[in-house]
Amino acid sequence: LDSSSILADRTKQINASAIREILKAASRPGMISLAGGVPAPDSFPIEVIRKLSNKILDTYGASALQYDLTEGFPPLRTALSGYLANKEIFAEPDDILVTSGSQGALDSIGKILISPGDGVAVEAPTYLGAIQAFNPYEPKYIRLDSDDSGLIPSSLEKALSSHRVKFVYLVPNFQNPTGRTIPLERRRKIASIIIRHDVLLVEDDPYGDLRYQGSPIPGIKTMAPHHVIYISSLSKVFAPGLRIGFCLAPQFIRKWFVAAKQGVDLHTSTFNQALAAEYISGSYLSQTLPKIIRMYQPRCKTMLDALDQYFPEGFHWSRPDGGMFIWVEGPTGFDMQNVYRESLKNKVAFVPGKYFYTAKGKGLETMRLNFTMATKEELDSSVKTISEIIKDRMQVGTH
Ligand SMILES: Cc1ncc(COP(=O)(O)O)c(C=O)c1O
Repeated sequence: LDSSSILADRTKQINASAIREILKAASRPGMISLAGGVPAPDSFPIEVIRKLSNKILDTYGASALQYDLTEGFPPLRTALSGYLANKEIFAEPDDILVTSGSQGALDSIGKILISPGDGVAVEAPTYLGAIQAFNPYEPKYIRLDSDDSGLIPSSLEKALSSHRVKFVYLVPNFQNPTGRTIPLERRRKIASIIIRHDVLLVEDDPYGDLRYQGSPIPGIKTMAPHHVIYISSLSKVFAPGLRIGFCLAPQFIRKWFVAAKQGVDLHTSTFNQALAAEYISGSYLSQTLPKIIRMYQPRCKTMLDALDQYFPEGFHWSRPDGGMFIWVEGPTGFDMQNVYRESLKNKVAFVPGKYFYTAKGKGLETMRLNFTMATKEELDSSVKTISEIIKDRMQVGTH
């Protein structure tokens, strides 16, 4: 068979994520991984899941195993309505759509909104999985500038004034890859800009509950409810393998979402949705979350302390209030890819930051460090290892 005539034109836009290869390397035995973006396995509430598995079979019987509505399992939508109300996002159960991970929502968004050549405005850097979901639909990316407080509102204003933008994609809480959070005042400005330009915003919020310090900041959804598709997930606060995500979209979009999802998977696993429903409504989430936070908070601090202690001058990093990542920027012209290769040889894996940019040649001097998977001792020693490699390379550079 001739693959070039068999594969669809758009298939060449579907690049396998380079990060998958990095994660493969990171999972080699003996490696300390700062590369992934995954929860610590010991954060999974295995005993709760065992108990709830029995309970849902008693409560829902065969209907937990049956085909169900594309929109989502009704008890989960009811539970999510209460969960979102705690974030001041007020939605009826019928307004909420359950997706197969928030990744499922991102794919539907690409499918129903992007025609080839449409402008999609994204932060630089941004979440790679969103780019992967959107790419097959052939958007044109418009890059927005960020600083330590996330998206700079004037950059959004400029982008919307000078380009036709189908939607803006943002991760306002503890962004992947930077760990940055957009402060309240900026969110208000962003909300007023998108309302004024009458443009749609996709607010992706899988990390919002993982806050280690400071107070929660209301979502942009609360400030511009008719202009925002809010998407979130239980992956980081329950178990990603269950693939439970959800979204709240303006009504004219919702029906297309449902139609698109029907063609993909009919619906998200009923059994897993029933587990999620009980996890939330039985207050297991509110009991488990503080435990997860107690696990990650000291890891975040240990990594920040190690960066302060070991990293050389000229390097700058984010100081996240939550989430899973710290973003490091080296001096202009520094090449983190070489550090990555050397670091793998020393059994430490991380992700070079260039992968999170839509433009080639950007972010060569950056890296993303994850702090949820390693122990405190490993975090300290691996940051030290990377810093020594960096110092060696800087010497190479000066000779
Ligand atoms: C910003 C962001 N959005 C979405 C996802 C997808 O998560 P899931 O599909 O497990 O909900 C991730 C996963 O890492 C993420 O970091």
